[in-house]
Amino acid sequence: MVVATRPRTVNERRGEQLAGSAAWYERATQVFPSGVTHETRFFQPFPIYIDRAEGSRKWDVDGNEYVDYIGGHGALLLGHGHPALTAAATEQLQRGTHYGASHELEVRWAELVTEIVPSAERVRFHSSGTEATMMAMRLARGFTGKDVIIKMQGHFHGWHDYAALQMAPPYDEPVSVGIPQAVQESVVGVPAGDIAALRAVLDARDDVAGVILLCNGMSTEYLQQVRNLTRERDVILIFDEVVTGFRWAPGGCQEYHGVVPDLTTLAKILAGGLPGGAVCGRRDIMELFKHWPDDPHRNRHGRIAHQGTFNANPLAAAAGIACLEIVRDPAIQRRAAATAGQIRDGINDVLLRHSVGGEAGANGSAAVASTDASMVSISVSTAEAARIAAAMQLYGVDTGGRTGMIVSAVHDERDVGQTVTAFERALELIQDEGAL
Ligand SMILES: Cc1ncc(COP(=O)(O)O)c(C=O)c1O
Repeated sequence: MVVATRPRTVNERRGEQLAGSAAWYERATQVFPSGVTHETRFFQPFPIYIDRAEGSRKWDVDGNEYVDYIGGHGALLLGHGHPALTAAATEQLQRGTHYGASHELEVRWAELVTEIVPSAERVRFHSSGTEATMMAMRLARGFTGKDVIIKMQGHFHGWHDYAALQMAPPYDEPVSVGIPQAVQESVVGVPAGDIAALRAVLDARDDVAGVILLCNGMSTEYLQQVRNLTRERDVILIFDEVVTGFRWAPGGCQEYHGVVPDLTTLAKILAGGLPGGAVCGRRDIMELFKHWPDDPHRNRHGRIAHQGTFNANPLAAAAGIACLEIVRDPAIQRRAAATAGQIRDGINDVLLRHSVGGEAGANGSAAVASTDASMVSISVSTAEAARIAAAMQLYGVDTGGRTGMIVSAVHDERDVGQTVTAFERALELIQDEGAL
């Protein structure tokens, strides 16, 4: 007698192939709420646990190999363990990881930022992008003496209190609990790309210190209009280039679009895969960090105090310098963007052949295969995108539970081929389950 067997589901296959990850997740839930340490690493029924990584690839605790499209949340434009960065960090590790003092590397690191990023006249290092955007807002407030920051609805600037506002519908409700009401009143959201909405708020209020936005996904014309509106009103314009800095072009989105903000926030690629961030920009604004030893009143009442145990950490500086020396060559961004384009084309071909609606887009080197918020185009729901991503892991491609892909300059043709095939196999599996 022939017994009809139903095909195994994606989750059943994952349970077998990724048994080690499942076991680690179980253990993790005993020490971490939800078992994870970052919002986007939460993945059900369990995330994969990585053992090591090299170049464009990484290996999980079960020995499965993946083409990696998380890229250290965007930090790894040069892939995992680039020899020059590894050598620089290894050498520095032996010379000391923290001097608690000024050092040569921080100076060279900042010089590189000023050479590469158009708006960077002066620099201040932090440990993360979150710190950098928080400081950029403080600089705008401190410089203008006003309180309100305008941000674009849905634009992500990290997890601090001001950044948790105007993030997801309903926009007047923070995405986190624990945000004081007074903080909520100091941030106003406008729809991204809507110049009339921005103008209306700027016309209606005289308490606006700054406007912060992501410039990817925005047109040059819009960015130029935002630049003009803010300049006319002495409102500080902040480009959050934590993701786009050194990725869209060596000098980031501002170089790509030819629009220069007053302040720029950087992190990720800046520190060559180690923790680090920076705010940089107009010299007169950055002078708020300046000490006034001969003017005690100004020193106490007219400056920004900024500590931070790991500011300009020597290890991060060593890796960051090695990284920026390489990524200042625009051939790096061109290579990553070209690879992203190949992935986009391959995936669009699969979508067409499988009659799945939607289309992939690629913007800079962030190739997007589906519903990733800022650049998406495939018409599947977020839940379906997660299913595709889960199924792609079975075929050796990790997009971190979403289908947006962050491409590096070291992804190659073999990676592209494997990715497109994995996408196709993933679609087929899900279609077998009766979805899509
Ligand atoms: C645009 C943007 N700004 C700020 C941040 C926060 O940076 P970090 O995670 O280093 O705190 C991120 C993080 O992904 C980001 O994408």
